[in-house]
Amino acid sequence: MQTITALDPLRRAVAALRADGPLALVPTMGALHQGHLALVRAGKARAAHVAVSIFVNPRQFGAGEDLDAYPRQLARDSELLAAEGVSLLWAPDAATMYPAGYATNVSVAGVSEPLDGAARPGHFDGVATVVAKLFQQVRPDIALFGEKDWQQLAVIRRMARDLDFTRPQVDAIVGVPTVREADGLAMSSRNAYLTPDERVRAAALPRALGAAAEAIRAGAPVAPALAAARAALAEAGFAAPDYLDLRDGESLAPLVRAAAGARLFVAARLGKARLIDNIAV
Ligand code: PAF
Repeated sequence: MQTITALDPLRRAVAALRADGPLALVPTMGALHQGHLALVRAGKARAAHVAVSIFVNPRQFGAGEDLDAYPRQLARDSELLAAEGVSLLWAPDAATMYPAGYATNVSVAGVSEPLDGAARPGHFDGVATVVAKLFQQVRPDIALFGEKDWQQLAVIRRMARDLDFTRPQVDAIVGVPTVREADGLAMSSRNAYLTPDERVRAAALPRALGAAAEAIRAGAPVAPALAAARAALAEAGFAAPDYLDLRDGESLAPLVRAAAGARLFVAARLGKARLIDNIAV
């Protein structure tokens, strides 16, 4: 596996890989877990080579968020990726990604606005900007993202279509199902912020979401099903959720009753960790 930190060698390396067949990109912020490795494996199944980027992107963190605390473990991540047969690790620093005078922002209207867009103003501009830059830099044939960040996936799909990063008819932005711990908690680099006791209680989140989805699917009215989920989260020690909503999985428009493509979305804080999850209804 080549590890590259500057743009010129990156361009040469990706040209050589692309000459050998399709190239998949897995963008990450590092602190890799099995969810990321599932993205790498899905990339390997679809392309001749997989490139992984590791960049903790300051533009997607708001003031007072966890940019400084975000786990950074490049040596360990690099070993994990080499063992998975990744061809290229792209690990630029902030000055390479955003040189002095950098002034361009990519903003996706609509799907960026509700849920995490409302709870974390500017977050999806930061995500869309860095992913657009990564697509320009690596020029992958496909890119893989986890469905745990469902709204992020919707934002990136919209941006890739709008800015012609992908061709119509080609499913180049691939969503990979959420990888969960044995108790159902979605894998996330931010789970590291949970104390051992909080880690046990965190399983209430996927449990509450699953119970609400099942009730709604079985015909229960939405509001009481969501109220029961809120109560279960409060009992487990979560703060009031930033959101706990039933929405259309594609447009992210709010729904008042179950419909084809409906999903439940939640973001809630437990101690220092802000956990997000979503599930099909
Ligand atoms: O999902 C992430 O880890 C990040 O939001 C991404 C897509 C790598 C952009 O920084």
